[in-house]
Amino acid sequence: MYINFWYPVARSEEIVDDKPLGVELLGMPFVAFRDTEGAAHVLSNTCVHRGGALSDGWVRNGQAICPYHGWEYGGNGKCTKVPSLGDQKPPARAKVDSYPVQERYGIVFAFLGDLPEEERPPLYDVEEYGTEGWKAQLYVYEVACNYERSVENGLDPVHNEFVHPKQGAPMLSLEQQRKPPPCEEIPWGSKFYMLFPKKKDNNTELTAVKTGPRIGGAGSWFQGPNQLVTWIDISAENAFHQYLFEAPIDDSHTRIYFLNMRSWLLEDEHDERIEKPTLEIVHEDVGILEKLSPVRTPATNTKEILMPSDAMVVRYREWLSDWDASGWRIDTKRLQAEQGDIAFAIPSPGRREGGNWVLDTIPLKPGGEEVRKRRVSPKFSAAG
Ligand code: FES
Ligand SMILES: [Fe+2]
Repeated sequence: MYINFWYPVARSEEIVDDKPLGVELLGMPFVAFRDTEGAAHVLSNTCVHRGGALSDGWVRNGQAICPYHGWEYGGNGKCTKVPSLGDQKPPARAKVDSYPVQERYGIVFAFLGDLPEEERPPLYDVEEYGTEGWKAQLYVYEVACNYERSVENGLDPVHNEFVHPKQGAPMLSLEQQRKPPPCEEIPWGSKFYMLFPKKKDNNTELTAVKTGPRIGGAGSWFQGPNQLVTWIDISAENAFHQYLFEAPIDDSHTRIYFLNMRSWLLEDEHDERIEKPTLEIVHEDVGILEKLSPVRTPATNTKEILMPSDAMVVRYREWLSDWDASGWRIDTKRLQAEQGDIAFAIPSPGRREGGNWVLDTIPLKPGGEEVRKRRVSPKFSAAG
C-alpha cells in the first residue's frame, strides 16, 4: 500500500450533514464530514488531545467534534475550540492532518499523502461521465483480498475463458496469448487494447490499436496502483467502460468502487438487467482472488512462473517498484507492530508547510534505486 495517491473514501451520500463518517484506509483511521457549505473534508481520525476517535463524535457548524472532551476541528484540521480553555485560543500544535478532497462520480476521494498539488498523480478522469449518450452505475463492495491482486486480475485477459465461461467472454487466440499486444505507456500507468477475434477464427492475427477506431475491441489499463480501467467495445455504439477505484482497507481487504458506464440501453429500466450479470462476474473473480496464495503479490517475480500473457501484470509490478523506489510504500509490518503504542498519521501536504505535529508519520519502507530492482522482469518462457 502506498501514500501519495487518490483513494475513494465514501459514496457522496454517505457523508451527511451532521454526522462524521469513520473510514479505514491503508490500515489507518480517517473521518469524513461536510462543512456548512456542504464541502467534504477528510481528516486523520485521532484527536491530538488524548486520542479520541473523531468519527464517534458529531458535527456542528461544520466542525468535527471529539466525543471525549469536545475539542472542535475545522475542515483544514486545525482545532478551533478547546472547551476546557473557555475563550482562550487552542495551542498551535492542536491540529490533525487534513487531506485534499475531490468529489466526482458520486464518490468522495482523498489524496492520502503530502505531495504538493503540482506533483500529485491524477485522479482518473472519466471523460464519458455526465455526457450525453452514457449511463453510469456505481457499485461498491468489499473483498477479502489484497488490492494489487485485484488490479492484476483486471489486467489479465487470459482468465476470462476459465473464470467467466458463462458470460460469453471473448476468447483469445493462441497467437494473442503467446504474443500479446505491446503495453503502451500512459501517465502513471500502462495500457493494452486489442481487437476481438472474428468469430470461430482462432488464428486471426490481431493488431493492438493505440486509440480508435474502438470497434469490436477491449483493453485494460491502470493509472497509479489502485485505478483500473476496462473498456469493452462491442461495437462503435455499444460499449461498456468500467472504472474501478480501489480502496485498500488494509493489505488483505479492499473496498472497490466500480463505476460501470454504458453507451447503450440507457434507460433506468435496464439497470437491473446490466447489474446482475456484471456482479456475477465480480463474484466469480472474488472467488478466485480471496483464495490466492500468497495473499499479497510476491516480492519477486521468480516466485511465480509468469507467461507472455502476464505482460501487463509484469508491467504493473514494475510501476509498483518505481513507487517503492520513491519511498511511498507503507511499512505494514512495522505499522501493525507499533500501532498499539503509537498513534500514526499519513502525512498530509500541511506537514511540508510547517512542523509542530503531534502524531508520528506512518512508517514507510526506505526508497532508493536498489529498491527498484526488487522485482525482476522474468524472461518469458515460450507458452506450451
Ligand atoms: S481526546 Fe479528543 S477532546 Fe480529549
Ligand atoms: Fe474477471
